[in-house]
Amino acid sequence: MAASGTGREAFATKAGFLLAAAGSAVGLGNMWRFPYQVSEGGGAALVVVYIGLIFLIGIPLMLAEFAIGRRGQRAPIGSLRALGGPAWGRLGYLFVLVGFAILSYYSVIAGWTVRYGIEAVVQGFAPSAADHFTAVASGGDAVAYHVAFMMATTLIVVGGVKGGIERASLLLMPALFVLVVGLAIWAATLPGAAAGYAVYLMPEVEELLNPDVWRAAAGQVFFSLSLGMGGMLTFASYLRRDQNLPESATVVSFTDFGVAFFAGLLVFPVIYSFALQGAVSGSTIGALFIAVPSAFEAMGAWGRVVGLFFFLVLALGAITSTISLLEVVTASVMDELGWSRRKAALLMGTAITLVGIVPATDLDALGLLDKIAGELLLLLGGLALALFAGWRIPAAVRDELIAGASPFWQRQVPRILFVMRYVMPPLVAVLAFFSLRETASAVAAFFSG
Ligand code: TRP
Repeated sequence: MAASGTGREAFATKAGFLLAAAGSAVGLGNMWRFPYQVSEGGGAALVVVYIGLIFLIGIPLMLAEFAIGRRGQRAPIGSLRALGGPAWGRLGYLFVLVGFAILSYYSVIAGWTVRYGIEAVVQGFAPSAADHFTAVASGGDAVAYHVAFMMATTLIVVGGVKGGIERASLLLMPALFVLVVGLAIWAATLPGAAAGYAVYLMPEVEELLNPDVWRAAAGQVFFSLSLGMGGMLTFASYLRRDQNLPESATVVSFTDFGVAFFAGLLVFPVIYSFALQGAVSGSTIGALFIAVPSAFEAMGAWGRVVGLFFFLVLALGAITSTISLLEVVTASVMDELGWSRRKAALLMGTAITLVGIVPATDLDALGLLDKIAGELLLLLGGLALALFAGWRIPAAVRDELIAGASPFWQRQVPRILFVMRYVMPPLVAVLAFFSLRETASAVAAFFSG
């Protein structure tokens, strides 16, 4: 990033912004959460609905965040307040809370990836992957890896996010993509892979009509594209007016989908080829961490090498996301309380680390937090952002979407605004209702044991 004319930090290049936004989007959401959601409900139907919702929710909402952020030139609380008044500014506090909550368990999962990477070197992959996952996801070691991951994230955010992340993403994203595609091709050669493809790619009609599948797919769109809590808004606040926003949102969304899709092409054939269905349905949350190490174990010595790279790249992909989560929290606290970057990042990072001890030691708590913060609250935050952009400041949004856009994308702006105003809010409202119901019963189940 370089200083812009206004003295505010700005991305040095257009590609820098795309990389940072894609780096925030691509992470454990693609590799861990996407296969988890697909195996938890709906199978291929969820994949199909997910693609549809990228157009109906993902791209328009990302554009709402981009427009608000670039217009406001501040972190979420400040931008919403500047553009909509103090009441809207308060919505930004919800975003800080959501970022806080998501990071507290996201870092736990990121810690698992680091541990698997280290184990690839020191002991190799365990033959009974499901039992090993249960051990990894509980106890003091899980806390230790979570604490270590949060420390790394906090140190980077204390140091200022900027140039390093821009440059690191440049290498990381292609590396992750090449590894996942390569492994997906290898998975295609496995005996019995076809059964996995059937589950992943052949939707059942009644599942396509199941509201729960739509709810889960929508939650996944929000989570994977980093939407609904002002993350993309914050990045766009570092933009100048020459960035082509509609094109950027489309590129980021489909890059993100591409990684998730290949992750599925790796995970599902492996599950069926290695007969891991039982293990995975017993712990859908661990689908990735049960399937992929099984594959590496079967590859023998090479599996340890490939596995090391796989988990290393995954951990690095995760850290570009944890940085973006902590950055929203930190930037907001800096703006609102006038704290230094150092103080804000250290105190918030420590608080999040402490809260994360709960999901680190309790997998059910992790799943519950993911439903509340990673789905319901993102849907509600996204609904509010859509209403704000589409109904409170539509003229400014139209202006932002046109500024910097090529003629082709300028012609799409009326369509985008139509979806932003009339399609997305009612759709998200209905899905948020289903999410509320689902979350309420999950909370009840959790506390009744
Ligand atoms: N999108 C990231 C992933 O898929 C996670 C993430 C980063 C996120 N920032 C976010 C999710 C903001 C929701 C909101 O791994």
